[in-house]
Amino acid sequence: MAMNEQSHLNFQIDRLPKELQGTFRELYVNGNGHKSYLPKNQIHQGDARILLSEIEPNSVALSVWSPPYFVGKEYETYLTFADWQKLLEIVIALHFPIVKPGGFLVINIADILCFRDEAMPRIQADAVNKKRSPVTREDVLQAMARYPTYNRYQLAKLLGCSEQTIDRRLHGNNIRGGKYEPQTRVKIVGGLLEEWAIKAGFYPYDRRVWIKDAAWENSRWASLSYRSVDEFEYLYFFWKPGITKYDRGRLSPDEWRDWGSRGVWQFPSVRVNDDHEAKFPLELPLRVIRLLTDPNEIVLDCFMGSGTTAIAAIQTNRQYIGIDLEEKYVTMARAKIETSTQMKLIAEGKTSYVT
Ligand SMILES: C[S@@+](CC[C@H](N)C(=O)[O-])C[C@H]1O[C@@H](n2cnc3c(N)ncnc32)[C@H](O)[C@@H]1O
Repeated sequence: MAMNEQSHLNFQIDRLPKELQGTFRELYVNGNGHKSYLPKNQIHQGDARILLSEIEPNSVALSVWSPPYFVGKEYETYLTFADWQKLLEIVIALHFPIVKPGGFLVINIADILCFRDEAMPRIQADAVNKKRSPVTREDVLQAMARYPTYNRYQLAKLLGCSEQTIDRRLHGNNIRGGKYEPQTRVKIVGGLLEEWAIKAGFYPYDRRVWIKDAAWENSRWASLSYRSVDEFEYLYFFWKPGITKYDRGRLSPDEWRDWGSRGVWQFPSVRVNDDHEAKFPLELPLRVIRLLTDPNEIVLDCFMGSGTTAIAAIQTNRQYIGIDLEEKYVTMARAKIETSTQMKLIAEGKTSYVT
């Protein structure tokens, strides 16, 4: 690929900003040095940080994936926060050579809502609704003014409440309950992705929000703070410079109006994550694939999990390349792909039985 499309690519290279031309020319003329590339329409087991460099340069029309979010799932226990950042930075950088000029990298991710931060000052909550004793902070302050030598036990006796109530009225409740639990805050990840993508050579092109099912059960703080429940994620679209085909005919006019042109997408989450801890719904890769690619183009997911992106690619007659670190997910994805392929053949009348 590196050499045989050179005239087409040279045209694009000359139109790129000067500072990018050197890197591009190197990449297109020399490729990535591999003699054979990862086969298409297969799921490969291994680390994305290694296998991505084995994909044919300039071949992937769209890479769409949802990485570990650093929220304590089983498949991400091998990562510290620093490792997690490095993983995403490396993976994004490795995409630049393999995505086609004019192609896209789309990342589905959420902010980290419970990010432990040892340095964060304790949030003090004056939990009005939880007060059982009628003693107010003003009562305590007045008592202290009148009896400045009293300790908290004497103040409690005077006011007819417990010494914990005196403490709480003076110093507030800790919002997380346990005194020694580290504080947690929100970690906003969009800025990190933007930085790494730009460093790799991509340009931020679009961002959308996916409204999913509200995760009330995860919001153990919701009754004692102003924090909202977890009910949306992001889709960040990054573009590799080159010629991009714009074809609104990929969607029907209704689809274009309802979601193609919309910044907010709303569809349910996967209701039962019984076989994989964090699947995204089929609708997510289906929409991205239909919006950004044509039939037969290559769609990549290097955090393939249970195989959702591959199934979306098969259903829409695209080719796919899948990667996942965990053998059990690779086995699962392959089985699901097999079933999905059979179902498609049956639906198209090309076979009448499921093996
Ligand atoms: C959020 S899940 C993806 C779920 C997938 N979108 C689905 O619908 O099933 C992230 C996946 O990344 C995989 N993973 C974690 N570290 C990886 C690495 N270094 N290389 C490749 N895959 C990795 C995990 O095994 C997990 O299946």
